[in-house]
Amino acid sequence: MTAAEESVPGKRGAAEFEDPPADPLELLRSWWQAAKEAQIPGATAVSLATTGTDGTPSVRYVALADIRADGVVFSTDERSPKGQEIARQPQVAVAGHWAATGQQFRLKGTAEPVSAAESDRLFAALPPAARAALIVARQSAALESHRELVHQAESRVADPGSLIRPAHWRSWLIRAEQVQFWMEDPHHLHRRLAYTRTAAGWSVRRLQP
Ligand SMILES: Cc1cc2nc3c(=O)[nH]c(=O)nc-3n(C[C@H](O)[C@H](O)[C@H](O)COP(=O)(O)O)c2cc1C
Repeated sequence: MTAAEESVPGKRGAAEFEDPPADPLELLRSWWQAAKEAQIPGATAVSLATTGTDGTPSVRYVALADIRADGVVFSTDERSPKGQEIARQPQVAVAGHWAATGQQFRLKGTAEPVSAAESDRLFAALPPAARAALIVARQSAALESHRELVHQAESRVADPGSLIRPAHWRSWLIRAEQVQFWMEDPHHLHRRLAYTRTAAGWSVRRLQP
């Protein structure tokens, strides 16, 4: 694309918005792959929204561990507030944003635990210090002593054979029901796609900014 074309509203990198592909998860995977190849800092971070039993929302960042044909995968402590909220109300939403490329994606769906073998595989891929921290901490519980947690984590790292996934650390698939893509346009005519899962497959609409 030439500099002149770049300056035309809505022209920048808009191929998928002109001719939307049939499968939003393939598109998301290609966006994610490009972001990782471009080494965009924090490319895996997404905000995850859950709902409490009283209907109030909570949101926090988690790391996307994988994008699969049916949805996206993340991991957490099932005893945490989010873990408990998901157990009671599995409808969740995520959003990711990369300022470097002006891209946002959003996804809504139902969270379900993946197999123990897949949780094991994702846990095993983490660095030793992360595995140790996830074993010794009870996420979001009141902290008695940071020094004691550090000591416990260091003991675990010194004993690599003990760095196996604890039962409380699990991975969830968010089975996608809606996926949206947004691409920033320098003239504010941002590009958008909204996919909805139907009985016949994915339907897609282009949306105004
Ligand atoms: C960039 C980033 C990535 C994070 N990734 C995770 C994650 O993958 N899993 C997780 O449980 N918490 C992750 N956290 C911590 C959560 O944001 C949150 O503080 C923690 O999970 C407790 O949330 P809860 O009390 O709502 O359950 C991450 C935080 C940041 C800033």
